[in-house]
Amino acid sequence: MKTLLLALFILSFTSLFANENKVCQKCHPLIYKEYYNSIHRKSSLPNDAIYKALYDKEHNATTQQQCSSCHSPSAKTAQDAKEAPISCVYCHTIKDIKEHDTANKNILSDKKRDFFSAESSKRNEAKVTYETTSSFFGLIKRAKNSPYHQIEYNNENYYTGNVCMGCHSHVNNAHDFDIIMLDAYIDKKDKDTCISCHMPQVMGSKTTLRDTKTHAYHGIAGVHNMSESLGKYVDISLAKRKDGFTVTLKNQANHALFGQAYREGVLLVSIERDGKTKELKPFLFRRTFGKNGKASMPFEANEVIKDTLIYAKKSIDYNAKLQKGDRVTVTLGYRLISKEAAKTLNLQNSDTLTQIKVLKTESF
Ligand code: HEC
Ligand code: HEC
Ligand code: HEC
Ligand code: HEC
Ligand code: HEC
Repeated sequence: MKTLLLALFILSFTSLFANENKVCQKCHPLIYKEYYNSIHRKSSLPNDAIYKALYDKEHNATTQQQCSSCHSPSAKTAQDAKEAPISCVYCHTIKDIKEHDTANKNILSDKKRDFFSAESSKRNEAKVTYETTSSFFGLIKRAKNSPYHQIEYNNENYYTGNVCMGCHSHVNNAHDFDIIMLDAYIDKKDKDTCISCHMPQVMGSKTTLRDTKTHAYHGIAGVHNMSESLGKYVDISLAKRKDGFTVTLKNQANHALFGQAYREGVLLVSIERDGKTKELKPFLFRRTFGKNGKASMPFEANEVIKDTLIYAKKSIDYNAKLQKGDRVTVTLGYRLISKEAAKTLNLQNSDTLTQIKVLKTESF
């Protein structure tokens, strides 16, 4: 009887919702809520003004289709484009990544209700299905796993972070020039992965059917959410010189920082002396794309005119002399888009895009 009810329950919500994410929400409400506020739900034309601004400048339909293959691969309808452009099922059915010159491609398994996931204690288990066990002569019933779907825990891509690389590795423009250039490189020896840094375990159960203390954060810790939690992956140090001082930033991520074309990293330094604070000129981390020696839109670019991004390590010299008792405060932050880019894209009225957000502050 119980199984029958469960079967009916499941049947009813599969047919009720056109959008399958809503089915997942029933048993994974916390993860759904985080996802809903994540960049992976906001990556589509109706949800991201920056993306739309660039997409609209592109007039070739084939190229526009390529954009959608990463920005809204699950959007079959206008409703999906708003609600689930990169859906739960999409990410959890990425079987493998095929490498290509222009951009990589996700290979999906076409099995229904069979999802990949990672949990180190079950790393070798495939086809994990729903089970019920009873003890005390049938008085206590316990259920394990999901009644809705099977889980495959043995896909390496979900442990190494390679599952992210179908979309995040590179996007080459018509001149074979990579315009997202995270320069990410996955090494099995890495202590942290795309997933451990950007989807850290946070409090709350991963499903309502079983109590777990934590779950993987689906809001994506990054430049939009939980940014300050990423600060710990950049070490800031300061060394005095005779004629000034040097700030060194050491990057523990396996990719360049602030690599997105319109992003701008900012280093703010101030010196507190005798109760007064003096701000030094901010240092900007960015990459300027160009064509024939002049700055250009990323999609037309065939060269990099200037690159001050943080790769493994970066030192910046200041020629302000320090005195005994000085307190130097260093803040590493970023703007989602630089003020120049905001003008080019006609987005200068959107203050939140050009406001400085903080990754880390330290005093010396
Ligand atoms: C009827 C409830 C139910 C529905 C509906 C449901 N799930 Fe689950 N799901 C579970 C349960 C229970 C688990 C097992 C958790 C455990 O025991 O670790 C689970 C586990 C998972 C896991 C693996 C968790 C791990 O341990 O790493 C993934 C991934 C997942 N679900 C994705 C989805 C997606 C995507 C959808 C929507 C298409 C969905 N689920 C719909 C109940 C459900
Ligand atoms: C291979 C996958 C892929 C393709 C194809 C692709 N993008 Fe992207 N795009 C991404 C990823 C991943 C990011 C996020 C990069 C980051 O934040 O560093 C991104 C970010 C962007 C951003 C910045 C958005 C923001 O809010 O900051 C814009 C704009 C953009 N893409 C436009 C386009 C356009 C227009 C096309 C098609 C001409 C396109 N992209 C094709 C994967 C892709
Ligand atoms: C951008 C890709 C992506 C999207 C979109 C996505 N997931 Fe996940 N999900 C992952 C990865 C990767 C993991 C493995 C995390 C880990 O190693 O702890 C995961 C883990 C999980 C887990 C197990 C949590 C845990 O702590 O082990 C569940 C349950 C889950 N996802 C459900 C969902 C649901 C429901 C949605 C939609 C609301 C969704 N996912 C959307 C990539 C994604
Ligand atoms: C289907 C393609 C796709 C997959 C798979 C994917 N992403 Fe993304 N991701 C995007 C796109 C597109 C954007 C940019 C969206 C925008 O700004 O409009 C993005 C943006 C991001 C950002 C930058 C935005 C921010 O708020 O910091 C981070 C970080 C990120 N993704 C992490 C991940 C991780 C980690 C994984 C693997 C678990 C992953 N992504 C898998 C397409 C994808
Ligand atoms: C050791 C932690 C760490 C690891 C591992 C890591 N990241 Fe990051 N990531 C960061 C930090 C810190 C930032 C914030 C600075 C920035 O915006 O670049 C960031 C930013 C990003 C952004 C936004 C970049 C921008 O400016 O728009 C994307 C996209 C991203 N990471 C994707 C990935 C992917 C994909 C992987 C796996 C190949 C990965 N990250 C691995 C720490 C990490």
